[in-house]
Parts: sequence; C-alpha cells; structure tokens
Amino acid sequence: MKIKLLNVGRLPPALETRLGQTHDMTTLAKEQDPEAFLAAHAAGFTALVSSAAVGVSNDVLDRLPNLKVISNFGVGLDKIDVAHAQACGIAVGYTPDVLNDCVADTAFGLLLDIARGMSAADRYVRKGQWVQGPAFPLGRKVSGARLGIVGLGRIGRTIARRSIGFDMDVRYHARKPVADAEWTYEPSLAELARWADFLVVITAGGPATRHLINEAVLNALGPDGFLINVARGSVVDETALIRALQDKRIAGAALDVFEHEPEVPQVLMQLDNVVLLPHIASATRETRQAMADRVCDNLQSFFAEGRLLSPA
Ligand code: NAP
Ligand code: 8YV
Repeated sequence: MKIKLLNVGRLPPALETRLGQTHDMTTLAKEQDPEAFLAAHAAGFTALVSSAAVGVSNDVLDRLPNLKVISNFGVGLDKIDVAHAQACGIAVGYTPDVLNDCVADTAFGLLLDIARGMSAADRYVRKGQWVQGPAFPLGRKVSGARLGIVGLGRIGRTIARRSIGFDMDVRYHARKPVADAEWTYEPSLAELARWADFLVVITAGGPATRHLINEAVLNALGPDGFLINVARGSVVDETALIRALQDKRIAGAALDVFEHEPEVPQVLMQLDNVVLLPHIASATRETRQAMADRVCDNLQSFFAEGRLLSPA
C-alpha cells in the first residue's frame, strides 16, 4: 500500500511527478473544493509535503489527526510552526546544506552586481546610451572591501568563505558568536552595519528576525554602504529601505526576497540603485535536484527507518 501524501506546497513539476509515482499523493490546490476535500479525507494522510515559500498553517495541521511527518522543499521553516508540529507528534524534515553553495553564489552575484552596476549597465547598453553618452557612472570596488554578514549559519559561513577570493575583511553578527568561526563577531548589528561596505543578510526568517534591518541599521550602513538580502523579505523593513534608497541614505540594495513577494513595490522598480531577483538564490538545476532528492529521501527514511535524514 502506498503512503497517503498531501501536497500543500508549490513543488517543481518533476518532483510532483516523482512523488505521485512513489506515493498516493493528493495536491490540495488541484482539488475543486479543498475545504470539502479535507473535511472528507484528512484522516487518511500520514505524510505532508510543502515548499518553504508556502509552508503549512496550524489550522491545516490540526485537521490531519494521523499526520506523522512533514517533508519541506527548502531550508527556511518560517512558514511552518515546527514547535506546534512537534507537540502534535509530527516530525519535520527539510533540505539544509544542499543549497548552501548556490545561495552563497547568488549573494556574491548580487553583491558584485550592485557594486559595479552590472544590471544597470546592461540596461544602459540596451537603451543605446553607450553610443549617445553620458558615460556610465563609476562603480564601487569589491576586492578588499568590508563584508558584514548578518547570520553566520550554514549559508552565512559559505558566503564568508567566498570572500577569500576577493580579499575581503569579514565580520558577522548573530545572537551569539559561532564557536569555531575564524571571522570577527560583532555583538551590535548597528555597529556591524556602520563598519561594513556590504551588509549581507542571511538569517532565518520568522517573528524573531522581523524587521531586524530597520531604519537605524540602514542609517548606520550609511550613504556608501550596500544591502544584500538573500534571507527572507520579512527580515528587512521594506518601507524603511525604500525611504533610505530614495534619500540616498544608503548606496544601494540587491534583493532576492521581498516582504510581500511575489509583489514587488513599484517604487523599487523605478530606482536604479537596486537589483531585484525573483527569489532564485537556490534555483539551479543541480541544487533543485538535490533539494528534491532530500524531500524524497526524508520521506523514505522516515517510513523505512523511523528517522528523517534532515530533521528540523
Ligand atoms: P541556519 O544555518 O539556521 O542559519 C541561520 C542564522 O541566522 C544563524 O547564524 C543564526 O544564528 C542567525 N539568526 C537567527 N535568528 C537571529 C536573530 N534574531 N538575530 C541575528 N541572527 C539570527 O540557516 P541557513 O541554512 O544558513 O539558512 C538561512 C536562511 O536563509 C533560511 O532560514 C532561509 O530563510 C534563507 N534562505 C533563502 C534562500 C533564497 O532562495 N533566497 C534559500 C535558502 C535559504 P543565532 O541563532 O546564533 O542567532
Ligand atoms: C527556495 C528557499 O527557493 O530553501 C529556502 O528556504 O527560500 C529557497 O531555497 C524556495 O523555498 C522553494 O520553495
């Protein structure tokens, strides 16, 4: 008998097909009346799959009395109440580590882009402005600059290691120093921002980090400082960020994530000192394959051996 799996996320089509072959899977969004479906069939599901951007509400969890395991496509758990799930006896699995490289690569791509104005330069060439002038404005040198990292977890460390090739001076902020880290710990986020030329945000999302990057931190980063956010939109006060960009109180921002994504404020689109990506930091074929494999392996391992490969 195949395990009954409820899909409430937005999964890559290939993963959805694969899970549909190995499990008795229902994709809730494809049901004509998801509410009525849950009311009639909730008790049959022992497994649930979701994606980091969607998660699952406590309301849905509370309606699945026999649920034993959640397998999340992504490392961010800000849309899943892990403590609540565990209190209900539900194990939570996710996809850490396999995406460290690509998210760190994207952070550095964004950093180089906003410093040197690459996306803006591309627009300049396409508009024919190279031929007509004025000359494209000078950028900011990256090699040898000061890199502040907010959140030195799995991805934060990978970003720090990337900086070696750019001879950057690295400091970081988190709630506590990381025991074996070779980089300088800065207990004050505002001080880190004041020191840094580039401030890269890669903390967890959720209520504990909501608006960690606020007006005071942006003011500390200052008119020559750049903000790069590859964590979650909720970590940055987007209204304060827009004001700081408009007033040129910071030099620029490069963002992969937004407070109300996929909605991106129009005003951000009109500014030239920003780079905007549609939450693609982990989006390579190799990494998405590895994430999909971990989603499947977590389920397989849980039902075969009673333990997740990557438990939250
Ligand atoms: P991780 O290993 O758990 O690292 C999270 C870091 O955030 C830790 O250093 C933690 O340190 C720090 N942190 C947590 N709360 C904090 C707070 N209130 N103030 C300061 N620092 C805090 O997680 P990871 O694997 O590196 O992933 C980090 C996050 O990146 C994920 O949660 C996800 O939201 C995001 N992400 C985004 C993408 C994307 O596509 N853009 C892809 C993957 C991941 P302390 O606990 O010591 O404070
Ligand atoms: C994914 C992410 O793009 O892992 C995470 O937390 O944000 C990204 O890797 C996304 O969650 C896929 O749904």
